[in-house]
Amino acid sequence: MKNITSIEDLRQLARRKVPTAFFDYTEAGSYSEETLRANRSDLNGIKFRQRVLVDVSARNLSTTILGEQVSLPLALGPVAMAGLQHGNGEILACHAAQAVGIPFTMSTLSICSIEDLAQAVERPFWFQLYVMKDRGFVRSLIERAAAAKCGALMLTVDLPVPGQRHCDIKNGLSVPPSLRIKNLINMASKPSWAASIVSSRRWTFGNLDGHVKGMAGLKSLGQWVGSQFDDKLSWKDVEWIKSIWPGKLIIKGILDVEDAKAAAEAGATALIVSNHGGRQLDGAPSSISMLPKVAEAVGSTTEVLFDGGVRSGQDILRALALGAKSCLIGRSYIYGLGAGGESGVLKAIEIMRKELDVSMALTGINRIDEIGTSVLSRERDVG
Ligand SMILES: Cc1cc2nc3c(=O)[nH]c(=O)nc-3n(C[C@H](O)[C@H](O)[C@H](O)COP(=O)(O)O)c2cc1C
Repeated sequence: MKNITSIEDLRQLARRKVPTAFFDYTEAGSYSEETLRANRSDLNGIKFRQRVLVDVSARNLSTTILGEQVSLPLALGPVAMAGLQHGNGEILACHAAQAVGIPFTMSTLSICSIEDLAQAVERPFWFQLYVMKDRGFVRSLIERAAAAKCGALMLTVDLPVPGQRHCDIKNGLSVPPSLRIKNLINMASKPSWAASIVSSRRWTFGNLDGHVKGMAGLKSLGQWVGSQFDDKLSWKDVEWIKSIWPGKLIIKGILDVEDAKAAAEAGATALIVSNHGGRQLDGAPSSISMLPKVAEAVGSTTEVLFDGGVRSGQDILRALALGAKSCLIGRSYIYGLGAGGESGVLKAIEIMRKELDVSMALTGINRIDEIGTSVLSRERDVG
């Protein structure tokens, strides 16, 4: 990992090590990927004010997320099937996050189960919930997350129906999965990936396996999931979830001021301004373009978190300047995971930490709570 100096380096390494079908699954956005691209290009368009001769020797990146102390304003977001990017992917990523002192979120659609992850790590992690039509199953998932002492429940609300990613269909990574011969040959050509997957002995949806009657294995559970996303999901369900879940509730997938206000009224501890990394409504605005309005509307009562396109510490600084309390990352740490397992995830976090630290210094900032619009340049990009 010595010559890895950026998230892009991790991405290139992951591209070589992870089978194409799974790498494409990480990379892709829905449909023509307009929103995926907007997430990155709008972040890139935000410029900083370079400040000089400010004493920045007392820099400190630590802050709080949902009242918990963290070493930097960053959390690892939920990513389905992380355990197929690298064997035991969820456990390794959670280890890395906890070693650094930031939260890790387990997806409902993880390869490892809640119980297995709770046993493998030292501290509580967050659990992300997809609400399935089978509300009995949803109730049991919430109860399992509570029994595992998860620190927060993250309710994802931007997926009442799944958006389409063209490459997943072409690669047979649809629901249910039916991988093509060319994909199987490609997998066989990735020996370190194959060894990690074989030795993990986990290759199905850990949170569903054994909990859905008559279903086992990635294919039939995948089919079940595909039929279970609930297009009736509404604010009433949030009330119901709150009546079962006693802890902190994060609502993920807010991109509109009206919805942000409704989330605050529903009693969410925090919300995440997110368009699911450009994987759901194609043509939706970038997350960063919606962040200032949402933060202004509800930031004084509800903690506003941000994700979508964060690939550097500079991007974290941009989001914080525009009103986010902290950021979440998806692809950036998944590249690290594919590139080098736990040490790859650690590398991804370390790269971003250093970039944030240097960018704070060069914008004249010592502490996270000093970051505001004053770090941003009003000059527009020329050329
Ligand atoms: C491969 C992949 C799988 C994802 N799976 C989930 C999931 O299971 N649940 C969820 O709420 N969000 C999921 N997301 C969305 C991420 O949590 C996050 O919103 C998004 O990745 C942020 O954008 P970024 O990848 O540009 O950082 C997934 C994203 C990716 C890239």
